[in-house]
Amino acid sequence: MTECRLLTGKVALVTEAAAGIGEAVALYFAQDQAKVMVLDKDGDPAQQVVGHIQNPGGDAILAEADLRDAAAVSRAIDLTLRATARSTSWSTMPGCTRARALWK
Ligand SMILES: NC(=O)c1ccc[n+]([C@@H]2O[C@H](COP(=O)([O-])OP(=O)(O)OC[C@H]3O[C@@H](n4cnc5c(N)ncnc54)[C@H](O)[C@@H]3O)[C@@H](O)[C@H]2O)c1
Repeated sequence: MTECRLLTGKVALVTEAAAGIGEAVALYFAQDQAKVMVLDKDGDPAQQVVGHIQNPGGDAILAEADLRDAAAVSRAIDLTLRATARSTSWSTMPGCTRARALWK
């Protein structure tokens, strides 16, 4: 069967990615060949998720930020945009309203 890698070459900024739903989304996107920006306020567990992606050969970068901190989120977005010409996927749990405002 032919594999379908819809996220190959794309960058995904996944918020709350150190645990739970966000971690599952980050691992799933990485499995689908995306470069994953692992955003979470807790750097150590987020770094572990980065390691879980990188160890089998995936591509991930830590983007430590508290979603309540507009400047930190803005820095994470800048990091994501520097990782590629354009962020082509966005996954977020809460904090979406503020993050969306930053895109304007
Ligand atoms: N689990 C569910 O059934 C469910 C259902 C509906 C909504 N939600 C919402 O989805 C989100 C994720 O749920 P979960 O069960 O995966 O949670 P979880 O507690 O397993 O993981 C949450 C992650 O988000 C990070 N986080 C929390 N606040 C943050 C902030 N301000 N900035 C950056 N990172 C932050 C934490 O450090 C943690 O790594 C939660 O907001 C939850 O309320 C969950």
